[in-house]
Amino acid sequence: MLSRQVADKLAKYETPFYLYDIELLNQTLESLMSIANRYSYKIHYAIKANYDARLLQIIRKYGVGIDCASGNEVRCAIEAGFDPKSIVYAGVGKRDKEIRYAIEQNIFAINCESIEEIDLVNDLAAEAGKVVNIALRVNPDIDPKTNHCIDTGQADSKFGISYEEILSSVEHIRSLKNVLVIGMHIHIGSQIRELHVFENMCNKVNVIVENLTNLGFELEFVDVGGGLGVNYDMPENEPIPNFASVFAIIKQHLKVGDREVHFEFGRSIVAQCGELITKVLYNKTTATGRRLVIVDGSMTELIRPALYGSYHNIENITSEADQRLKYTIVGTACESTDVFDENVSLPLTKRGDLITIKSAGAYGMSMASRYNQHDLPGAVYSDEL
Ligand SMILES: Cc1ncc(COP(=O)(O)O)c(C=O)c1O
Repeated sequence: MLSRQVADKLAKYETPFYLYDIELLNQTLESLMSIANRYSYKIHYAIKANYDARLLQIIRKYGVGIDCASGNEVRCAIEAGFDPKSIVYAGVGKRDKEIRYAIEQNIFAINCESIEEIDLVNDLAAEAGKVVNIALRVNPDIDPKTNHCIDTGQADSKFGISYEEILSSVEHIRSLKNVLVIGMHIHIGSQIRELHVFENMCNKVNVIVENLTNLGFELEFVDVGGGLGVNYDMPENEPIPNFASVFAIIKQHLKVGDREVHFEFGRSIVAQCGELITKVLYNKTTATGRRLVIVDGSMTELIRPALYGSYHNIENITSEADQRLKYTIVGTACESTDVFDENVSLPLTKRGDLITIKSAGAYGMSMASRYNQHDLPGAVYSDEL
């Protein structure tokens, strides 16, 4: 919970804005990298989670690489000073110009998601006179036990290539002269809180890696994606995700010899360090008795609740009233789904109070839009207050 002094200092900024806790980001990265280095695991930050330049600058200092989902994300990472050799690039629908750019920049690996994409990378690499390193993004058919909107590794998913399809194309892939398969990639979903899922994942990966090796692929690295979840319910209880437990599970169950093991964490690095600060515009009560608080933020700043039905903990950081009421917190966008949460217990809330929507550092600002011609929200950093 933000202290009274911090809440007072926020009053001068134009709402809505993202507030980033720089100390927490540093602590999170220290925790992540100290354990990852112990195991010699390679970490890529999934840049789609948040592109904020100040955050990227901090993340870069910890020797983290980048995971991208588009050509512009590759560009953003390179412009932020990340070494192209630390960049992996996945995505089901890479455009020709995006692949050309990734080839030009000599990134670490293009994680290919269809046989046709592999063919295209091969053709564009030939055009550039290069042999390009790729990884096969395999669909492992795993239920990550998370919100269905953010699972990516079940058999029917659009992501990755089925093992059967790889099997029927082995000779073809191996005959291509301008791509070299050096890695295997999976990413099974996001906001994974049941850690035994990672054990199932390892068991699947072990089999896939063994099979691909038997098929003649010389894999140098295995990229097991991201997905580690955060505590949205009670962020104060768990500001830093339990990286140690995940790595211990991976260490125990992943059997891939001396191949490099890579991770692509997004949410677990930046979710808890960011919150969306909004201001109450109006109170009103519907004919059905629902007490609405209308804040000046909306789904255009933070779309997760409207898009996935995601939960964010909400607090009034201004009111010190003893009386608490149940409110529905809604935004300004012209959409009925623009509701941050219902039945939120808050102290008596008035026009002008600041309302914080917590754990919004990941997939908040990076998904912001200008729908309704809203301005994009600003950013305020805790060490500059
Ligand atoms: C391929 C890939 N890697 C990594 C991530 C990051 O996931 P998370 O933020 O859950 O760690 C995503 C998220 O969508 C992804 O699609």
